[in-house]
Amino acid sequence: MLFQRIVPEPEQPEAFPADYEKIVVKTLHGLEGVLATELENLGAIAVRPLKRAVECRGDKKIIYRICYESRLALRVLVHIHGITAYNEKNLYHAIKEVDWDQYLDVNDSLAIDSVVAGKVFTHSHYVSLLTKDAIVDQFREKYNRRPDVNLDNPTLRINVRINASQCDILLDASGDSLHKRGYRRDSVEAPLNEVLAAGMIALSGWNGETSFADPMCGSGTLAIEAAMVAVKQPPQFFRDVPFGFIKWKNFDKMLWQTVKKDADNQRNKDISIKIVASDINPRARNAASINALAAGLDGVINIEKRAFEQADAPDSSGTLIINPPYDERLRLSEVEVFYKMMGDTFKKNWSGWSAWVITSNKEAMKSVGLRASRRIELINGSLECTYQRFDMYKGKKGHVEDESGAANTEVPSEE
Ligand SMILES: C[S@@+](CC[C@H](N)C(=O)[O-])C[C@H]1O[C@@H](n2cnc3c(N)ncnc32)[C@H](O)[C@@H]1O
Repeated sequence: MLFQRIVPEPEQPEAFPADYEKIVVKTLHGLEGVLATELENLGAIAVRPLKRAVECRGDKKIIYRICYESRLALRVLVHIHGITAYNEKNLYHAIKEVDWDQYLDVNDSLAIDSVVAGKVFTHSHYVSLLTKDAIVDQFREKYNRRPDVNLDNPTLRINVRINASQCDILLDASGDSLHKRGYRRDSVEAPLNEVLAAGMIALSGWNGETSFADPMCGSGTLAIEAAMVAVKQPPQFFRDVPFGFIKWKNFDKMLWQTVKKDADNQRNKDISIKIVASDINPRARNAASINALAAGLDGVINIEKRAFEQADAPDSSGTLIINPPYDERLRLSEVEVFYKMMGDTFKKNWSGWSAWVITSNKEAMKSVGLRASRRIELINGSLECTYQRFDMYKGKKGHVEDESGAANTEVPSEE
């Protein structure tokens, strides 16, 4: 089911200010809850988590704010029309009835993305073609000319979402996906998607006020996303591709400049916490340095070449997030040794810290040898992963309870 509803529809329809649009914000699996909170903080109302998306209401200012300031959104889609269609003819005519002059000029270009679910429409590509035909036929009948299709850089990106006979038409305010922050200039193997990295940080509860470390940093995504939180830098501060809404007919340049200025004014690189990224591989350290510089965060992140087993905690407490090699191709015995090394190092060098580890290798995770106080299911690329939290208490052998209330007897002892 498309955008499956997690929270049921309210029984009474809610009243919204007239200029509040219905917005669907897409994200990654597992980040719906943290995105919902972020959207509320950005001013959205009627926020409801869906599957890999969150629905909300907001005016133009909120739409601009989400595009510029959301760390957890992949795309921001603004609903313009809802149609019931039982066959192709219905769909074609209903789309042709929308006044497309409101959104597009004959000299503009368009691209259409469709997602279909249910038995009425089964081919998304066909729905895109039908939608394009309905729109361009409307223009041809009025002006004897038609807008072109441009899949890479259109004036207007249109989303058609069909679930059984319910068809929703939305406009993509983000343009290119919002995981593109403009700072990834170099990478080593298996970099995290920027939105997933920001989501892992949000799920950890880290808010930029305590120290942060990623001791297997690769190209530095987690440390860069963390540093942006700490210095209150908008995630799109260095975006090098235009937002979709900038090409819309109703674009409000003054409002956009105010939104951008207000967000940019929060940026403050004068922070007292430590943000450390390290990796055993010198290529990773170089890539992380290049990316941190491109993100304007040189001097904020301390980047080192160091093996995790030799890295000391940079502070007496903080949050440590690791995206280690999953290495499902390695022999289990080697993977077990590696994951056991992580658990031993947490105990030995990181007391007072919360450690979070993401991996698709659930068998290997058992070798960490500590009881997780939280487990979250995430998807990294196509890999189903577990993201687990281990609390490294200070002092003598401690006591911690996991989600089920079971006591952890493996809590680290003071060395
Ligand atoms: C999956 S990659 C991390 C990717 C990173 N999150 C990113 O977004 O680019 C895992 C990293 O762990 C590093 N690594 C492996 N063994 C290590 C060790 N013993 N100490 C420190 N880093 C290690 C690798 O060099 C690699 O860069």
